[in-house]
Amino acid sequence: MNIYLENVIKEYEGKRIVHIDELHIKNGALYGFVGPNGAGKSTLIKMIAGLEPLNSGNIYYGHKPKSNPPFEIMTLVFQKPYLLRTTVEKNILYPLRLRGWTEKAMEERVTELLKDMGLSEFRNQKSWKLSGGETQKVALARAMSFRPKLLLLDEPTANIDPSTIAIIEKMLRKANQEEKTTVIIITHNLQQAKRLCSDLVFMHRGNAVEHGDVEKVLNHPTHSLTQRFIEGELIVD
Ligand SMILES: Nc1ncnc2c1ncn2[C@@H]1O[C@H](COP(=O)(O)OP(=O)(O)OP(=O)(O)O)[C@@H](O)[C@H]1O
Ligand SMILES: [Mg+2]
Repeated sequence: MNIYLENVIKEYEGKRIVHIDELHIKNGALYGFVGPNGAGKSTLIKMIAGLEPLNSGNIYYGHKPKSNPPFEIMTLVFQKPYLLRTTVEKNILYPLRLRGWTEKAMEERVTELLKDMGLSEFRNQKSWKLSGGETQKVALARAMSFRPKLLLLDEPTANIDPSTIAIIEKMLRKANQEEKTTVIIITHNLQQAKRLCSDLVFMHRGNAVEHGDVEKVLNHPTHSLTQRFIEGELIVD
């Protein structure tokens, strides 16, 4: 799904948190959003998800002119995902039930996702008994279940071990390549961005300071702030 941001401004208590003049998220791409703590990444992704109102400006989904957030074909996975107080299977089924999938189609999709995620043995496990990494994988399986056109992820692999990170990255690649899902992932891991993403957006103090092809932004940043961030220099506001 193409997304166009135009003069997007978000303020909290009179303080400007996000200010993006213009940004085009390309259909079918896998975007990484990086930047220091407090840069406005989570706020921005919540606005794109339609969960946080803008003070001014527009976000267009698909084609201009203005359209409302297409909630039925997009989803956001929070950094600390919230699962329904039921089994793993029922959590993953939930978006499919809402969308009127048949029992057979739901059964096949859940089985496939559990297998791909390495979660088959947890099918009937209660969600509150899962570890952090298992919870994150179930949240991702639930988000991917209905093959969204836009998948938004806020630091999905923070506090996750390398083997689970590998599974999550494999699944995101699969959604992007096979199911043509446009993906936006916020990450503090530049190596992950390099492995996974086609495009990178560097945010600093609410602005999208630099964006473009991931290799180009990481290897040949044009903005000094991007360069300093990549080199690991602390950016003091
Ligand atoms: N509901 C809120 N009310 C007031 N200020 C807020 C609110 N949500 C976020 N902020 C502020 O907005 C700024 C941007 O926060 P945001 O969570 O978007 O940053 P971030 O880039 O995701 O940072 P991190 O890398 O630490 O997750 C921060 O200074 C934060 O304190
Ligand atoms: Mg954040």
